[in-house]
Amino acid sequence: MPTRIDDVPAHLIVDYDVHDPALASDIHARLDEIREKYPVAWSSAHGGYWIITRYEDLHDIARNFEVFSNYPVGIPHVERPGKYIPLEIDPPDHTEWRQLLGPLFNPNRMNALEDTIREMATGLIDRFIERGSCEFISEFAHPLPSFLFLELMGWPLSDEPQISEWTDLVLTGHPGASEEENHLVRMTAAMEVVRYFVELIEARKVEPAEDFATFLLNSRFRGRPLEAEEMINTLFILMLGGLHTVRGTLGFSMVEMARRPEVRQRLIDDPSLIPGAVEEFLRFEAPVSTGRTVLKPFKFHDVEFQPGDRVLLSNPAACRDPREFPNADEVVIDREVNRHLAFSAGPHRCIGSHLARIELKVALEELLRRIPGFTIDPDRLPQLHHGQVRGFQSLHLKLR
Ligand code: HEM
Repeated sequence: MPTRIDDVPAHLIVDYDVHDPALASDIHARLDEIREKYPVAWSSAHGGYWIITRYEDLHDIARNFEVFSNYPVGIPHVERPGKYIPLEIDPPDHTEWRQLLGPLFNPNRMNALEDTIREMATGLIDRFIERGSCEFISEFAHPLPSFLFLELMGWPLSDEPQISEWTDLVLTGHPGASEEENHLVRMTAAMEVVRYFVELIEARKVEPAEDFATFLLNSRFRGRPLEAEEMINTLFILMLGGLHTVRGTLGFSMVEMARRPEVRQRLIDDPSLIPGAVEEFLRFEAPVSTGRTVLKPFKFHDVEFQPGDRVLLSNPAACRDPREFPNADEVVIDREVNRHLAFSAGPHRCIGSHLARIELKVALEELLRRIPGFTIDPDRLPQLHHGQVRGFQSLHLKLR
């Protein structure tokens, strides 16, 4: 039977919820305290879940798929048909799915996208540079990965506004709305996305194209064709996986550079430091926290996890663990060793990490080249959102 709050030693129960909007603007004070006081803590939110914050523990659990299942990944779990593929599939099936999807993300294919990404980034900057100000999230950090997702899928870039609207609604609903209202908004948007994918798959059955939907139609899983639901659940997570993550990291990077002019100046003077800075921004504000479900009893430090227990792996907390990172609370763009866990570890380690790195590198190169003097608009402070994917609702910048 899963652990209930009465079974948890009182000193391990903490006031932390990964969805608490009050923590959006600074999660680190609370997470630092939890990480330093408790090897494992318990949140009573959403039916209760364990929280893992230390680097080494998170690294071990992320790799231990025999005890910790990836299904469902959400805390709390929102009912929907099927599982996200490959995110919510455990090995051995997961291994087959990764092999099937691998060609889409191979490093050569990703490197070949560099010029396209640069063109997209400069095109977006062109739209606001003369104005002298921008709302960075809606004008750059969201459309860039949306364009890139469409490019990767081989679909029309003109669908970007629609895709952006849907993904925004699916992930964050209407900020400030009631939980019920948000649930409805998110479900409705998800249904729209499913309809878009179904229509696309049907169209490719009749008229194959050089695109990812056709690739899935021609693929085999253990010798059989993929079911429609499998294709939709794959497309869905490829779309969600690459948008708010990149969007959040771009926002956090701009904020850090605006707050630390000396860091920004070093990057302007020597752009060869940008790839290292990308790793450090990813470490410093890791946007994703992942969820697991315990499959069998497991002794962990002084407690025993029970089958059915939910576990939150707090990648942002682990990425600031001073046991692994000297000066963990400082941005050090030329860290000698930076084995951060922003992309997690183990079998589910982010399949899009090559793409994300190239995207972030090119975006920062172009932003620093074209708008080197940006500052945060003091009259409109950044609005952040909390959750298993953290990021910005809005980030108003002045460009000179
Ligand atoms: C800053 C950018 C990104 C971050 C921080 C990030 C983070 C992560 C993390 C932490 C996981 C592991 C989840 C787990 O352990 O349960 C993951 C998996 C995944 N990511 Fe990313 N991601 C990023 C960009 C992307 C991009 C660009 C794509 C694709 C277009 C993508 C697609 C995926 C997919 C499909 C998975 C599931 C992999 C599997 O289960 O085998 N991600 N990502």
